[in-house]
Parts: sequence; structure tokens; C-alpha cells
Amino acid sequence: MCGIVGYVGDDSAKEVILTGLQALEYRGYDSAGIALSKNGKLLIRKESGELKNLVKRTQAKDFEAHIGIGHTRWATHGSPTRENAHPHVSQDGRIAIVHNGIIENYQELRQWLTKEHNIEFKSVTDSEAIAHLVSIYYKGDLLEAVMTATEKLSGAYAIGVIACDNPDEIVAARMDAPLITGIGENGNYLASDSPALLKYTRDIYVIENGEYVVITKDNIRIMDKDGTRIRRQSTHVDLDAAAAEKGGHPHFMIKEIYEQPEKVKEALKIRLDKHNNVKLEGIHFTKAQLEGFDRVYIVACGTAYHAGLIGKYAIEKYAKIPVEVDVASEFRYRDPFVDDKTLVICISQSGETSDTLEALREAKKRGGRILSLVNVVGSSVARESDDVLYTWAGLEIAVASTKAYTTQLICLYLVALYMGKVKGSIDTEHYRTVIDELLLIPEKLETVIRSERRIRELAEDVYKKEQIFFIGRGVDVATSLEGSLKLKEISYINSFAIAAGELKHGTIALIRRGTLFLALATQDKVYEKMISNIEEIKARKAFVVTISKDSRKSIEKVADRTLYIPDCIDDLTPILAVVPLQLFSYHIAKLRGKEIDKPRNLAKSVTVE
Ligand code: AGP
Repeated sequence: MCGIVGYVGDDSAKEVILTGLQALEYRGYDSAGIALSKNGKLLIRKESGELKNLVKRTQAKDFEAHIGIGHTRWATHGSPTRENAHPHVSQDGRIAIVHNGIIENYQELRQWLTKEHNIEFKSVTDSEAIAHLVSIYYKGDLLEAVMTATEKLSGAYAIGVIACDNPDEIVAARMDAPLITGIGENGNYLASDSPALLKYTRDIYVIENGEYVVITKDNIRIMDKDGTRIRRQSTHVDLDAAAAEKGGHPHFMIKEIYEQPEKVKEALKIRLDKHNNVKLEGIHFTKAQLEGFDRVYIVACGTAYHAGLIGKYAIEKYAKIPVEVDVASEFRYRDPFVDDKTLVICISQSGETSDTLEALREAKKRGGRILSLVNVVGSSVARESDDVLYTWAGLEIAVASTKAYTTQLICLYLVALYMGKVKGSIDTEHYRTVIDELLLIPEKLETVIRSERRIRELAEDVYKKEQIFFIGRGVDVATSLEGSLKLKEISYINSFAIAAGELKHGTIALIRRGTLFLALATQDKVYEKMISNIEEIKARKAFVVTISKDSRKSIEKVADRTLYIPDCIDDLTPILAVVPLQLFSYHIAKLRGKEIDKPRNLAKSVTVE
């Protein structure tokens, strides 16, 4: 999604902004631009396509200044052209703005600005209106002008503004879109996300909804909507700079796949006490509280939603509370049964996904207790929840989520075990067995990753297929959905996941000679049923690749190709079985020559509805 970077200080604003925008590239964009303020003029460069196009256009020596704002745009209103790229400049040429979010009343604003102020719009974006509004109200006090302009906006925004006759200040405002400021030695910074500033500073202020900031070389002033100054503790960002590098790997995605054993181990280790009992930092539910919940909703999008599907199995099984899993974009519009007897679990890697955030707010409004599983520390979802459990996957850069997913699974199992233990709904032996098995998962993940060559060879044989089906039963359905999503987002192959038992109710009509199926058969409980489903598709000449436990070699009798995961209890196979699917997708996309880390049309964090 869109990224914002701003700088005012002694260094080259161009260098700082380009470095910051490059660090945010992983979030997805399709055009970019910079505005600098120098000698009473605004210098603007914008380009569509990759950031390197902008870098080329900003090489000139005279394109230099000590204050500026930059932006990477992920198109919402209008195609990714140079005209639609930010920064947008007011008609009088005095004001430049960058904007992240969506202005919902932009049509009315455009009409009003055109009719009453003779503004001729240069782009078709919702954001350009902000530049004209600020300029209309600008009488020498930029903060005042931004405050008045934002009163007219409805929707979501993080905005950075500079004025040509004010070379000392960047003014910024936030409403429902992430924004931070960075505290530096040679100046101060503005950004939508902390990775943008890692090279320069780790000390930041997180800007909250409804707040305004004036950033100068020596000072950062945060104010509420009445202009009252807010004193805030700075936050130290504990991100490893190496996490933003590929560390010898050709892509972030493969690096992140390989990191899973270690990340899963960390996510587990910090939540088990010396007796290997689950303790969830800062989260305490009493037996009475847990018994008071008559239902749990899990709300999330994409991969996080798939983790939620598996969480449902674990919570229902261990904590004996009915769980409904909902796609966040649907949840808030369907009048869900949330009240003070509902626990709502929101899952989000970025913690900034607009659909999830809005679902959270809706659930909160209705009295639900919100527990979130989030990767990005201090993100909006984390801040607005009653309880937060961080997944500690570290910075995930590839758009296709891998390590965030497996650590989400670990957290869900731990939450389910914790709830079961406090409620007394899981017997001690079962509780122990699951924890003992969880502790073996990191090593087993290593084993799966070591089988990469076999998976790559399979990919080499099938990468030209234009359609791939994923099937499974029980938790394998959720893993199938995740495998299918991974494949389509990075290889652009049309893929489809379905419960194996559901095939015969319609989808089986699509099978022809050679149709490729990835059949997950990791569940002992339904293994024989799964074999029957595989026989059904084999009878229709499909090509079937199976994924099953090591000890299930008998599957070779029905499968064309087999992949194995180490033996483990049925409940936990999703953490292992997803990894061959991640590797399969990765190698298919690589063989097809696709942009693995930044697939077309996608963004890492989806901050629009
Ligand atoms: C996964 O590979 C995706 N790119 C996407 O589905 C993602 O999981 C989804 O947008 C949710 O993001 P979040 O976890 O940051 O909320």
C-alpha cells in the first residue's frame, strides 16, 4: 500500500526520502514521487512504475533540498500514471501533499473546489483535493490550514504537507491510516511505517487518530484537534536492520520460509514456563471469564483468515467454546451476534489491514472483548485491542505471508491450550501431549525444509499447468486454502481449494486427463476417506500429488507423486503441511519468471477497504 516519507534537517532530503521509499517498496506500489521545497519553490518529480524510474529522474544536482516529502502510491482512484502519482500540488503551486488512505467525500470536494474556487484538477485521484483545500486555507500558518482542511475530509488519511514559502516545517495529520515521526540527530522524519526510517533512527513517536504534527529540524510537536500540545514518550523500534535484507537468498519469500523453524521456536519458548505450561504475557482470563464467553469470533483476512480456520478447530477442541471464523470485510456488514459474552480474536500480520481494523471497531462497539494476534508491534490493531499477543515473526517483507502464518498458528494453539487449561475443559494428558508435540515442531519444520529439492523437482514437472486444485479434509481444508492462495498470488495460476468430500457435489465436473491435484492427507481420522476421494479423481485421469505423514507410505499406491511431512498428532499437522505448499508455490513462481516478492496488483498491508 501507499508509503509516506518526509524529512527536514541538515541532510539531503532527497536521499533520505528515496532510502525510505525503497525500504517501503515491499508494501507494494505502482508509482512514486518526491516534492522538495527550496528557495521559495516546490520541486516535484513523479514517475509511474518502479522506484528506479523515480531515482533516475531525481539524479540532477539541482534537485536537492533539506526539506521534502515522498510517496509510493498503490492505485485506488485512477490508474498508476505520473499525473495520478503523489505528491499533489495545489493550483497556485504553493502546497504539496502526500496522502495514504481514501477520502470518501472526494467527489463533493472536487465539485465544490471546481465550482467555488475555479480549481482545475490535474489527476483523477481522491487525494488531489487535499492539496487545493490546504492552499485555500493557507494564510501563512500551515498547521492551521491543515487543521481546517482536514475538518472537511471524511475517510481515512495519513497526510504530509509542505509549503513553498515555509522551508522549515512539515505538517502531518492522521485519521485511520498509519503514521509515525522519527527523531534524528541531524533532523526529524515522517513516515507511514518504521522500516522506512531504520537507516536513520529507531526512536519514533506513533501518531494517533485525530492528531496533528509539526516537524522541524529540531523539534516534533504533536497536537490534538484543538491544537493542545500532547506530550508523549518516544518508542524505540527493536527491528533488526538485517531483517530488511535478503541475507544471500534470491528472494525475501524463501528467506522467510527458511526462518520458520527459528521463529516458531521463539514464539513457543517465550510462552512456556519452566514446567512447560502456557503463559500468555500480560493476558489473564479467569475461569469465570472464560465460562462467561458463549462464543468466539475469529476475524481476519487472507492468510490470517486461514490461520483462523485452524484456530477454530483448536479452540473448539481444547476450550470447548463454539467458534465462528469470519472474513473481516464481511463481518462488519452482517450484523454479527457480538455482545459482552463474546470473545473476538482478530488476526493480522501488519496490524493495519483496514477490513480487520474496522471489524475490530465494530465488535468493540457491540461490547465484545478483543484479543488480537499481531506481528507488527504498536500497530493499530494492537493498540485498539483489549489484549494483544504478538506473533514475533520479525519483519515479513515478501507480500506472500509465510512465517507470519506459522507463528499465528502457534499463537492460536497456545491460546486454545491456555483457555482449555483455565476452563478445565482439556484433560492434563491431552494438554501435555499437545505441548510435547509442539516442542518438536521446530525440528520437524527443519526436516520439511530439507526436502526442498523434491518439491522443486515436482515444480519443474508441473509449472506449466494453468489450473491446480487443492483438496483435503478437516484442518487440511484450511491448509489447502492457504496453499491455493499462496500459489495464485505469486504464480498467477488459477487455483482452487475445496473440501475433498465436496468435490462430488459439482467441482468434479472440471476434472480432465492430467488435471493437477494437490491432495492433503495428513489426518489419521479421515485418512481412508481421503484415499477414496483420491481414487475418485484418479478414476477421472487427474494427476495427483499427495502430502501425508511419513508413516503413510501406503499412499504411494494411489498417488502419482508423494511429498511427506514428519509424523505428528493430527491437530498440529497444519504447521508442517503448509511448508511444502509454500515451497511449491515459490518454485513454480520462480520457474514462471514471476516477481515473487512483489506480485502484481498486491500490497503487503491493505489499508483500504
Ligand atoms: C497473504 O499471503 C496475503 N498477501 C494476504 O492475504 C494477507 O494475509 C492479508 O491481506 C491480511 O494481512 P494482515 O495479516 O496484515 O492483516
